[in-house]
Amino acid sequence: MKQFTCVQDIGDLKQAVADALEIKKDRFRYTELGKNKTLLMIFFNSSLRTRLSTQKAGMNLGMNTMVLDVNQGAWKLETERGVIMDGDKPEHLLEAIPVMGCYCDIIGVRSFARFESKEEDYDEKLLSQFIQYSGRPIFSMEASTRHPLQSYADLITIEEYKKTARPKVVLSWAPHPKPLPQAVANSFAEWMNATDYDFVITHPEGYELDPVFVGKAKVEYDQRKAFEGADFIYAKNWSAYTDPNYGKVINTDRAWTVDTEKMALTNNAYFMHCLPVRRNMIVTDDVIESPQSIVIPEAANREISAQAVLKKILESL
Ligand code: CP
Repeated sequence: MKQFTCVQDIGDLKQAVADALEIKKDRFRYTELGKNKTLLMIFFNSSLRTRLSTQKAGMNLGMNTMVLDVNQGAWKLETERGVIMDGDKPEHLLEAIPVMGCYCDIIGVRSFARFESKEEDYDEKLLSQFIQYSGRPIFSMEASTRHPLQSYADLITIEEYKKTARPKVVLSWAPHPKPLPQAVANSFAEWMNATDYDFVITHPEGYELDPVFVGKAKVEYDQRKAFEGADFIYAKNWSAYTDPNYGKVINTDRAWTVDTEKMALTNNAYFMHCLPVRRNMIVTDDVIESPQSIVIPEAANREISAQAVLKKILESL
């Protein structure tokens, strides 16, 4: 595998889950695979889980790992070609990317949607530049439109906890005070659509996702109706995708917060969230602390999904 940016890159999903569960049984089985190989993780945005789990995954495979926080200590980067660089950005991405490629074997990139241009965000301009100019395999650690390492971990978690072959999985919008990208929701939808699960998306009017990601999912505007009989509730906030509100918060209605009353409508569903989560906005204390909350095992599976992806890339070097 030469790049990992979306569900298609991982190939057959059943095999991907089997590979991940095999790694989980013995995560130190392949420590020779990454010997003398260097993983560079580049963060344009903050992270807790992705940073630690991916670094740990690289170490499990015997890799050397380096982390660059672009906004803390590196030169400010110009990203536009043709700009006269007489401002506060002393380095251009078009030199910085191939230079970074000189020092490593695999590069992970985190770069969120900037909400300056929907077209640029949905073209994945920055990630594409890394793919084009680094000379190294690139994997996404959350880009503008997708968070595939998260979705892979989510899939592993659902497979571990599901009680029926074809569970009902509900992606529910929930309120948040600040505009968040659609990446986690898009990506979760993309991966769920690649399974045979009964997949439902619920959100207030105005929060419709890109139809490319909604795919064959059922969209239900009544959150309570969507929750009926659900086996998994996956809560997430996202800002508006549709014009003219792209990247805006148009509703912070706490009637959409996931609480015990709504969870009681489900088939004793498990509660999932990618974290970090704003308690009592997205989900109440009671729900996230309940036995049905699997947010910690879900986060733990980030190490496994990252290791499965890195293993596949290392095998292709
Ligand atoms: N879920 C997730 O990607 O967490 P971080 O933003 O902390 O990496």
